[in-house]
Amino acid sequence: MLTLGINYSQMHDSAACIVRDGELLFAVAEERISRVKHDAGFPKNAIQACLDFAGVQAGQLDEVCFGWQTAGPVYRHDLKCYVTGKMPLTYLSGLNSTLHFLSMWHQESGAKKFAQQFGATKAKMRFVDHHLAHAISAFAYSGFEEAAVVVMDGRGAWEATTIWHGRNGRLDLVLMIPFPDSMESDGASALREAGRGFVSLHRFEVSAVSDSHKTTGRQRRDTIRPDDGPARACARRGERDRRQAQKYCVRGTGRM
Ligand SMILES: [Fe+2]
Repeated sequence: MLTLGINYSQMHDSAACIVRDGELLFAVAEERISRVKHDAGFPKNAIQACLDFAGVQAGQLDEVCFGWQTAGPVYRHDLKCYVTGKMPLTYLSGLNSTLHFLSMWHQESGAKKFAQQFGATKAKMRFVDHHLAHAISAFAYSGFEEAAVVVMDGRGAWEATTIWHGRNGRLDLVLMIPFPDSMESDGASALREAGRGFVSLHRFEVSAVSDSHKTTGRQRRDTIRPDDGPARACARRGERDRRQAQKYCVRGTGRM
């Protein structure tokens, strides 16, 4: 089973990763190759780097998974916020919402763009709830069998904050605060004050925010193994992975 993961919302930090039989082979943010900070474009360079690393063609992929819902739910939630007064409807805000929807709709939320860039594929296209994608990446990398997982995001399609109960390889949604009531900018600092928690960012960085369980390089290399359950993790990367990853590292940080 060969799976390509794509983060593409046209908002910020596009990225891609590739997973074979549950093992994360390679992941890179588009900005590390394009040199455009927070590059929001379709991550064609990141995808190509993933395919190159795995030594495969797009036609060999079994699944292509986007870490965002399709265009429709995003636009519907925007309209709901305008109608209910949660967000002020102005010429610019309405225009932005509509243009974003039309652009993503035209691109079939990225699927059409993928086919245009990499050719036709029989891979199954899947669109994953954005907050679930955040939560599972944080929990799976945490090393805990059971944990509370808090996602404080700018926005998902309709979510701004979600709280999950992770246990026995499962995530159960406990609380959802809808967009636009977002606490993203204060999220990390608030969690640090509160104690144990994890902050999942869009560029493959997962930060544990309790003093007793700081995220280490080893934990960043842990990979999700779906056949062990949705939140199991393993650590298995070799020298080839390290060299390939360094190709895309920002000088001085040593981080992907
Ligand atoms: Fe996000």
